[in-house]
Amino acid sequence: MIPMIDLKKQYRDIEEEVLREIKEVLESGQYILGPKVRSFEKEVARYHNVRNAIGVASGTDALNLALKAIEVGEGDEVITTPFTFFATIEAIIYQGARPVFVDIEPDTFNIDTDQIEARITSKTKAILPVHIFGHPANMEILVDMADSYGISIVEDCAQAFGAHIRGRKVGTFGTCGCFSFYPSKNLGGYGDGGLVITNDDEIAERIRIIRNHGSPGGYINKKIGLNSRLDELQAAILRVKLKRIDSYNELRRRHAKYYTERLSDLVACPVEKEGYCHVYHQYTIRTALRDMIREGLKKRGISSVVYYPIPMHLQDALRFLGYRAGDFPVAEAASKEVLSLPIYPELTEDEQELVCKTIEEALHNTNVQY
Ligand SMILES: Cc1ncc(COP(=O)(O)O)c(C=O)c1O
Repeated sequence: MIPMIDLKKQYRDIEEEVLREIKEVLESGQYILGPKVRSFEKEVARYHNVRNAIGVASGTDALNLALKAIEVGEGDEVITTPFTFFATIEAIIYQGARPVFVDIEPDTFNIDTDQIEARITSKTKAILPVHIFGHPANMEILVDMADSYGISIVEDCAQAFGAHIRGRKVGTFGTCGCFSFYPSKNLGGYGDGGLVITNDDEIAERIRIIRNHGSPGGYINKKIGLNSRLDELQAAILRVKLKRIDSYNELRRRHAKYYTERLSDLVACPVEKEGYCHVYHQYTIRTALRDMIREGLKKRGISSVVYYPIPMHLQDALRFLGYRAGDFPVAEAASKEVLSLPIYPELTEDEQELVCKTIEEALHNTNVQY
């Protein structure tokens, strides 16, 4: 059996340190917005070389609070990708704004920056790129575009902690960078968690206040906020993993290289653009024979997942936006052909070899090649 990710294996490697951290929190009596959250925020800010990092309850709330803090609201439009996890879109709609989709690049699956300008209107308040599967979106072009139109960028970095473009980490290009620490993320806690980074002190202060009932403390309420705090236990656990994130990402990259060497004659393998650093939160292949491969893997007890089978503009919940099949052909084709394979730092070469052999076998009697 090969799972998509083996969190128990990773836990065993860091068990002693994690348990020590957890015990410290439990014995401290401080469980909400205490020293572990403050330290973690400082460490993440240092890692990204930014002025502020604010821990929140989830990646979804990181997006919600960032959009609220830049004052996206009723009547505004936010340009984004239809090829993402639903939370990206929910956060836009929660502000009362409208998501405006732009099709994706067929190789990286990220928003196609060549198609954005045609969608910018007087209502466009922000662009929300998603660094999907861990490959950075085309941020250099996006930043120039957003600057020239006077619109903000909020980056969805939920799948890309540590990814960078020529050394500049994702999350530091836009006004805000939003992270998720959902357990399966490349930096994941043992529960829900999220974080926003920003160099704008005023926006950081707004997010700090909003996450805590609109209060800077002392039962003074300056805004309508909500309860969206990263808790001490998660921060303590995440500190242990943050120390290792670069080596975890390096291992993912090594596994990706192995897969690509073995599979590139059989399927379309993920690309890494020149100067970009992909952290392979997912290793996603593309082939018209996806379902045949999936079946073959399943028979051998090897997991694989289709991220994402339905692009956002075709989701039932978003029908009210008025999009139709055919509106974003590249995203729609990708949904029919993508398959994510097991990838996590602790994956062994034997396991990878079995995945590759099984794919070879599944395709053995076909002539289709990429
Ligand atoms: C691209 C993307 N955005 C947002 C989220 C939401 O994060 P969370 O599950 O922590 O709310 C996720 C992951 O779940 C995601 O993959």
